[in-house]
Amino acid sequence: MKRIAVIGGDGTGPEVVAEGLKCLKAVADKVGFTYETEEFDWGGNRYLSTGEVLPEDAADTLRKFDAILLGAIGHPDVKPGILEKGILLHLRFALDQYINLRPVKLYEGVETPLAGKGPKDIDFVVVRENTEGLYVGTGGYMKKGTPDEVAVQESVNTRKGVERCLRFAFELTRKRNKNNTLTLCGKTNVLTFAWDLWERAFHEIGKADYPDIKREYAHVDATCMWMVKNPEWFDVIVTDNMFGDIITDLGAVIQGGMGIAAGGNLNPEGVSMYEPIGGSAPKYTGTGKINPMAAIFSVQMMLNQFGEEKAANILERACIEVISTKMKSMAAGKMGMTTSQVGDTVVGAIAKL
Ligand code: IPM
Ligand code: MN
Repeated sequence: MKRIAVIGGDGTGPEVVAEGLKCLKAVADKVGFTYETEEFDWGGNRYLSTGEVLPEDAADTLRKFDAILLGAIGHPDVKPGILEKGILLHLRFALDQYINLRPVKLYEGVETPLAGKGPKDIDFVVVRENTEGLYVGTGGYMKKGTPDEVAVQESVNTRKGVERCLRFAFELTRKRNKNNTLTLCGKTNVLTFAWDLWERAFHEIGKADYPDIKREYAHVDATCMWMVKNPEWFDVIVTDNMFGDIITDLGAVIQGGMGIAAGGNLNPEGVSMYEPIGGSAPKYTGTGKINPMAAIFSVQMMLNQFGEEKAANILERACIEVISTKMKSMAAGKMGMTTSQVGDTVVGAIAKL
């Protein structure tokens, strides 16, 4: 029996998570997978009414679960940064979810803004380091609020943190067995300390333990260009926290938009947290316009982690059918159906598989 913690969060988060859970139930019943869920009301509304971002023991509470399903964090009435740092980043760090795994896959029937590119061209995975870099929050001000103000924000890269991320990416590349190519995305020409560490570790580890995996390197700016011009070149990309954040928004757009992009904050030795990467989209809250597909794919990633490959496979096939034959678009408000109809349609497709 797996135990899943559910954090709907802010804006449209709870709506899309509800559809993810609807599909989870359907596929679990079908294959005989048993689980229980517990909901947590953490997010902007709770913060506004209680003044507390998270209970003090939040991470310890979550450690007792097998996985976490998260909707979205971010509230229009709360100053940017408070909830993001206080909830999302806090949990990623406290639970040491050192990998942010973001597949970029264009499914049949989904529109991409890239002219002349199709599903066979857009199928790669970004492994984003998730606990270090510019996200650690070290730095500070001098002479704040004066004309001489100085603000420093540091990128922290540890050999241990870089190495475990690289090893995960090498393993994944081997497991995918697509082009057996791992691309390090960095900025060795300017950020000569951090990316020197990354680059040395990349080649040392690759040479010693993954001679079967081809190693490539691309600067982050060139990576952006190639993701648009030649996405078919990529198999697995590994990068740091900040660059990973940026290139995965680009990745989401070329795979059909935020409505379909899912991700996993992974601690391979601990508790992982799955989330649609699109954010809380507050203007769509309660309108039934938001696309829950990304949340449904997040559930699929979670099932894979549980070793429930059959259930994950059925769910993916059902989603593919709905995406390619039933939905008009992946964009909010243009799907040709409501948020909950998307979930119902996937459930219907699961029943027929
Ligand atoms: C993401 C988001 C977060 C990030 C924000 C909300 C803190 O953009 O998951 O990509 O920067 O990691
Ligand atoms: Mn982001």
